[in-house]
Amino acid sequence: MNRQTIVILGTGGTIAGRAASASDNIGYTAAEVGIEQLVAAIPGLADAGPLIAEQVAQLDSKDMSFAVWAKLAGRVNHFLAQPDVAGIVVVHGTDTLEETAYFLQAVCSPAKPVVLTCAMRPATALVPDGPQNMLDAVAVARHPGAKGVVAVCAGSVHTARDVQKVHPYQVDAFSSGDAGPLGYVEEGSLRLLRNWPEADANRAPDAKKIMAALDGATDWPHVEIVMSHAGARGAVVQALMQQGVRGLVVATTGNGTVHQALEAALLEAQAAGVSVVRATRCPNGRVLPKPGDLIPDSQGLSPVKARIDLMLRLLG
Ligand code: SIN
Repeated sequence: MNRQTIVILGTGGTIAGRAASASDNIGYTAAEVGIEQLVAAIPGLADAGPLIAEQVAQLDSKDMSFAVWAKLAGRVNHFLAQPDVAGIVVVHGTDTLEETAYFLQAVCSPAKPVVLTCAMRPATALVPDGPQNMLDAVAVARHPGAKGVVAVCAGSVHTARDVQKVHPYQVDAFSSGDAGPLGYVEEGSLRLLRNWPEADANRAPDAKKIMAALDGATDWPHVEIVMSHAGARGAVVQALMQQGVRGLVVATTGNGTVHQALEAALLEAQAAGVSVVRATRCPNGRVLPKPGDLIPDSQGLSPVKARIDLMLRLLG
């Protein structure tokens, strides 16, 4: 176990939530308890080595913004550059955790561990899940050889690329789909099932350029997600084009199929210079490309991650 410093960055979420009654697991306000207080309330968290806690933001992650992402990436890079820092734990809401994880992996490509963790029950719950998740996250951040952005929840470790919130209520709310988890945390020990995520070879060289662009950007490229479904229409695409949208991810049915009315509008948008990408709305698997496909696929990224990828490509 690595005894160097672990930095814990707070961003809010249910894990920092407060309810009027200890028996209420859903009627709470997220992002109320400060990160110092959360850390101080967990016996044994600092037993394995020093910790630094910093509040980067305090929000319900459904309201995550580009500005908070840029600030968070800046703090992650700042602390990762310190030789005495072994890794970082980011305390986050569950609702957009997978998006922040993917964003941080893309822009920071860390050679040290950056571990996102969360909770499904507020800090005031009779049996909160946050403290155990934070203990597990710190154990993963201290694990020798750990690297890349991962998420830890309910004893499972997921990569940024695969992790997805799959349940709105249960404590074990995340899955890595058919890729399976990276590992499990068992009584403070990590049982690793596959290799740590590597820096994305396509992304890593322009990570610096993207960080520089994020620094100065007040507005990121306008990229939206539209969904194909029974009775889908092209009007939504036309409306977005009038708003100057630069990229569109279509959450497709099955293996990349799109309702013909929506597809016609997307092809028109593509011909007009809008970047269009297909990502399946199925929770498992990926779009398998076929000769003659007119719209590129997301290379296995879910719609929300394909959107981030497209936004960064338009920014880079
Ligand atoms: C949030 O995402 O900030 C609220 C919901 C949660 O953390 O479970």
